[in-house]
Amino acid sequence: MIPFLDLKAQYQQMKPEIDAAVVRAIESAQFVLGPEVAAFEERFASYCDVRHCLAVNSGTSALHLALLAAGVGVGDEVITVSMTFVATTAAILYSGARPVFVDVDPVTWTINPGLIEAAITPRTRAILPVHLHGLMADMDAIMEIARRHDLVVIEDAAQAHGAAYKGRRAGSIGDLGCFSFYPGKNLGAYGEGGAVVSNHSEFAQRIFLLRDWGQLSKYNHVVHGYNYRMDAIQGAVLNVKMNYIEAWTEARRSVASYYDQLLEKHRCRRPAPPPHSRHVYHVYAVGLAQRDVAQKALQAGGIGNGIHYPVPVHLQKAYAGLGYGAGDFPITELLAHQLLSVPIYAELRPEQVSEVVMALEKFLLAEAA
Ligand SMILES: Cc1ncc(COP(=O)(O)O)c(C=O)c1O
Repeated sequence: MIPFLDLKAQYQQMKPEIDAAVVRAIESAQFVLGPEVAAFEERFASYCDVRHCLAVNSGTSALHLALLAAGVGVGDEVITVSMTFVATTAAILYSGARPVFVDVDPVTWTINPGLIEAAITPRTRAILPVHLHGLMADMDAIMEIARRHDLVVIEDAAQAHGAAYKGRRAGSIGDLGCFSFYPGKNLGAYGEGGAVVSNHSEFAQRIFLLRDWGQLSKYNHVVHGYNYRMDAIQGAVLNVKMNYIEAWTEARRSVASYYDQLLEKHRCRRPAPPPHSRHVYHVYAVGLAQRDVAQKALQAGGIGNGIHYPVPVHLQKAYAGLGYGAGDFPITELLAHQLLSVPIYAELRPEQVSEVVMALEKFLLAEAA
């Protein structure tokens, strides 16, 4: 049995530290925000190489508040991808704006900058690239278009903690960056969590207000706000995990490079980060024409796997109202049919990686035929 993810093994390596941190948070009786969360914000801001970090209660809340802080609202359009988790689209709709999709690049699977300008209208306010699977989108091209058209850029870095593009960290290039600390993420809380990072004090101040009922001080509500605060226990857990994030990321990158090595002789799609990128491999996905059969074979062999994501957002029933249909985004649709995510985490051993690739051998050979 090779699990898709092994959070129990991860906990065992740091159990005394985590247990002590959680008890400390409980004993402080400051259950919401407070010093544990403030300490985490400081560390995470420094990790992302940005001035400000505001911790919230999920990645979805982070995206929602980043959009509101940037002034996105009813009547506006936000350019993003359909090749993402639905939260990206949902957050745009929460803000009152309309998501406008463009297709992804066939090699990086992130937003294709060459398609952005054609999607810009007088209503466009923001571009929201998604750093899919832990690989950053082509930020130079995106920022150049955004600056020329006076658009805000919000990075969806929910899957990209510690990723880099030309030496710059995820979340630090756009005007705002949004992270998720959902338990299975590269940096995961023990419950829900998220954060917005930014170098702009004005955006940070707005998010500071919006996440806590718009309060400037107790019962002094200056804007319509939300209850999007991070719990102290999550801050405490995340602070401990900050001691490990770089080692875990490097271990993931080693696992990925072993997958790369074993897959090199095959013609399947696999992650292809440009040389200037630091991919953090939240997901390692392989493209297979017979993906669904391959998935059944892995399941039968006790090998955990996943599909990120089987139905692109523009083809989900919930978002049919946006007016898109099959064939609108051919690369996104192709990847949704072909990508199969295999186990990847710091604790995964090389022999387990070989076992996964062996279980896929038959389907990999079919690719070359
Ligand atoms: C790309 C992307 N955006 C946004 C989110 C939303 O984060 P959360 O689940 O913490 O709300 C996720 C993860 O779930 C994600 O993968």
